[in-house]
Amino acid sequence: MNSVILLAAGKGIRMNTNIPKCIFPLLDKPLISYLIKTVKELDFFQNYLCVVGYQKDKVMNVVDSEVTFIEQIEQLGTGDAIKYCENNVDSEGFSLILNGDIPLIKKDTLNALIEKHIAEKNALTFLTTSLYNPRGYGRIIKENNNIVKICEEDELNDLESDICEVNLGVYVINNNVLFPLIKKIDNKNNKREFYFTDIVKLIANEHLKINAMYINDDFHVHGINDLTSLSIMEKAFSEEIKNNHLNNGVYLINKDSIIIGSDVKIKKGTIIHPNTIIYGDTLIGEDCIIGPNSEIKNTFIGDNVQVNHSKLIDCHIKNNSTVGPFAHLRNGTQIGENNRIGNFVEIKKSVIGNKTNVAHLTYIGDTISGENVNFGCGVITVNYDGINKHQTKIGNNVFIGCNSNLIAPIDIGDNVFIAAGSTITSSLEDNAFSIARSKQITKKDYSIKYLYKKD
Ligand code: UD1
Ligand code: CA
Repeated sequence: MNSVILLAAGKGIRMNTNIPKCIFPLLDKPLISYLIKTVKELDFFQNYLCVVGYQKDKVMNVVDSEVTFIEQIEQLGTGDAIKYCENNVDSEGFSLILNGDIPLIKKDTLNALIEKHIAEKNALTFLTTSLYNPRGYGRIIKENNNIVKICEEDELNDLESDICEVNLGVYVINNNVLFPLIKKIDNKNNKREFYFTDIVKLIANEHLKINAMYINDDFHVHGINDLTSLSIMEKAFSEEIKNNHLNNGVYLINKDSIIIGSDVKIKKGTIIHPNTIIYGDTLIGEDCIIGPNSEIKNTFIGDNVQVNHSKLIDCHIKNNSTVGPFAHLRNGTQIGENNRIGNFVEIKKSVIGNKTNVAHLTYIGDTISGENVNFGCGVITVNYDGINKHQTKIGNNVFIGCNSNLIAPIDIGDNVFIAAGSTITSSLEDNAFSIARSKQITKKDYSIKYLYKKD
């Protein structure tokens, strides 16, 4: 049985933050989530291990895919981290070992590495590239064209410092070589760390086959060690995502001001206006106009929808509806077709039927509303009594006048008309008219008593 071993126990001292490096966000997802998604797509593996240590609970919390967590008690180096996996790895087969800080490595690259390992019957096959500035990476040392060791930055002599071919931290190694030899790695080096990369010279000493798969440098293979490298990667990745959208017929006005996550799908003909952030598991249909100044996360948007200056999280908006300016829709809210959700409207955990207007200054929470409903300006579904949340149900063809309160739980039937300014406390049957406001008192020529007199 073959295994994947992800190394995610390190603190990431060079990041200079307290967040464990592997869960630091790249756009909208933790670094390690990209890697786990990629390795889960590979065919060769049944066993997934993830070594955790520094703030392990936080790391384990963000991993939403099935993996076995292995705890490294003290962070003594990559060589030490892998030792802990021995009891969870088959002695036959091979392991794909990856540093947890290379988020964007591609599935095709990993497949090619594994296939090379199998075809060449190597004991160890690992990825390398050449970097213009190789600082911080382990350098590949060869003798007579054979790889004999990887030398870490702090151990380099002057000659070795000039070597530009570097180790990318992705290895395929036979398990019957890995575990006997990893025990022989010591920490007699300048950093007093157990370097996993020392396994290369141990394998070379045993005259077992080692080969590297060299690939051309690009940002997908880079490791993240500090916030500068993260920022450089984010820019390149973001650019790649947005260029893909442009190629698919989605126009981004002032592209640099727009952020789009890697899982977002947008159909052709849609235009995104400046200062818009689209994150998470979001799908946007054809011919929509999204933004400016909008934030959309985990939301499904149909065709020909407009979203303007608004925030939508975990929502579903059907075709031909408009949202905003300044609307906040959240918690599973569903908006039907041909709706107009307007200025300063908040809708939470509600289902709004087709052809409905919620045009201004309205709060709708925990409500199920039918088709062709008019919510006048300032309507509130009063869902919270200080302890519990209650539901409002509204039928079809209902008119709710301005500034009305519907005190939940309440059930409003079909074809109901509620007069402006009403506070409705009991349910209304179909075809009812309801008015619930105090009577107006008017006194002729009486204002003088209340108005200030001017001298
Ligand atoms: C490592 C390699 C280096 C390579 C580079 C590629 C070693 C000794 N060096 O260096 O040759 O060029 O990656 O990016 O492996 N980790 C643990 N436990 C520990 C220490 C680290 O789980 O005790 C994890 C970290 O969380 C990280 C990964 O191992 O995900 C790599 O550690 P890092 O310190 O970033 O290694 P580099 O110095 O980049
Ligand atoms: Ca690293």
